[in-house]
Amino acid sequence: MEAISVETNEGGEKIENSKQVENIPLRPGLEGVPVTQSSICDIDGNKGILQYRGYPISELSANSSFLETTYLLIWGELPNSQQLHDFQEEVQMHRRLSFRIIDMLKCFPESGHPMDALQSSAASLGLFYSKRVIDNPQYIYDSVIRLIAKIPTMVAAFELIRKGHDPIRPRDDLEYASNFLYMLTEKEPDPLAARVFDKCLILHAEHSLNASTFSARVTASTLTDPYAVIASAVGTLGGPLHGGANEDVIAMLEEIGTPENAGNYLDNAIKRKSKIMGFGHREYRVKDPRACVLQKFAEELFAKFGKDEMYEIAKRLEEEAINRLGPKGIYPNVDFYSGLVYRKLGISRDLFTPIFAISRVAGWLAHWREQLSANRIFRPTQIYTGKKIREWEPLEGR
Ligand code: ACO
Repeated sequence: MEAISVETNEGGEKIENSKQVENIPLRPGLEGVPVTQSSICDIDGNKGILQYRGYPISELSANSSFLETTYLLIWGELPNSQQLHDFQEEVQMHRRLSFRIIDMLKCFPESGHPMDALQSSAASLGLFYSKRVIDNPQYIYDSVIRLIAKIPTMVAAFELIRKGHDPIRPRDDLEYASNFLYMLTEKEPDPLAARVFDKCLILHAEHSLNASTFSARVTASTLTDPYAVIASAVGTLGGPLHGGANEDVIAMLEEIGTPENAGNYLDNAIKRKSKIMGFGHREYRVKDPRACVLQKFAEELFAKFGKDEMYEIAKRLEEEAINRLGPKGIYPNVDFYSGLVYRKLGISRDLFTPIFAISRVAGWLAHWREQLSANRIFRPTQIYTGKKIREWEPLEGR
């Protein structure tokens, strides 16, 4: 038996572990620690390969639609044409929100972040559809449909409400991506814009056991309802080290200002030991394959709608970073180019992460189902570094 010893605690006190942890080193951030088995997604971080259920992301983004990919992720196989038709129809039928949810969104402060609004409104679905029968396949199916269908409507509704407008009802003749863009703007989107947006949703739909998916699985492991599972994952996705980085990338590019400034910016940031947003990934030692695909879509959009001035800065930053960060395996991740695509589509910066969530709901739900199929509640252990048992001090003596 090998004790893990942490020398002293905050008060300089010597610590003897309250628990002996046999041959298990402390792994902050659980880096490299397998905590579940999964057949949903695999990443080869050295070769830059990402696959969902065995299909490479390059194939899916070239040939599939977001709803087809969602079906694949959640149910494990590509749908046949009848299954796809039924799935699309069911999602389309459940896109509307109860007027009570709209009223609730109207009560949210307009200055609030849309991710916070999404987290609250996703959780509120549990109030409306509270039956917690997670061993019932019909309940699971209905919950999947509801979440895939309603999350985009919630994001679009909050966007319009905070601008002082009434939300727009979903349009039954529009496909998933087109309908979301329509609900944001009340304009039918350009077909290329809708196609690229749908591809972005595919690219963000799943990425194995990242922080938000782990959060979803931990919550799922308590056998709570799927709305709580998704709400907890949305909360986790919002942080700047995770999905929130796509907003920060645009702020960083604005700060850099010109392509010529990119090298200096990098040198200063590296000297200050600050992170370059949109760079680095726990899994990848090469450029994130999703960033490669996204960059191509960004270029398609710029060819049709005109170049974004930030794109030249982003490209120069990437070039300059190769020598400075490449040797450490730090390259652009998916967030580096996604913000530029959404910007070109006229989407507000603080909606970038909620859009990530719209897409990632597919992966979270796949993990929810998988967790339920072989559940064991998550309960890791810790190394206690606090005070030893001590005597109670009466108030007057402190
Ligand atoms: N810029 C500069 N240096 C970096 C960066 C970066 N973006 N990322 C990592 N490094 C350096 C660290 O400074 C550290 O250097 P050191 O060993 O000399 O101290 C080394 O690389 C390891 O960094 P960690 O933070 O330990 O790496 P970790 O695997 O924990 O972090 C993370 C991964 C959080 C994504 C990190 O790269 C980061 O903060 N990136 C910026 C934020 C970002 O873009 N997040 C989006 C990730 S993609 C997603 O969630 C969808």
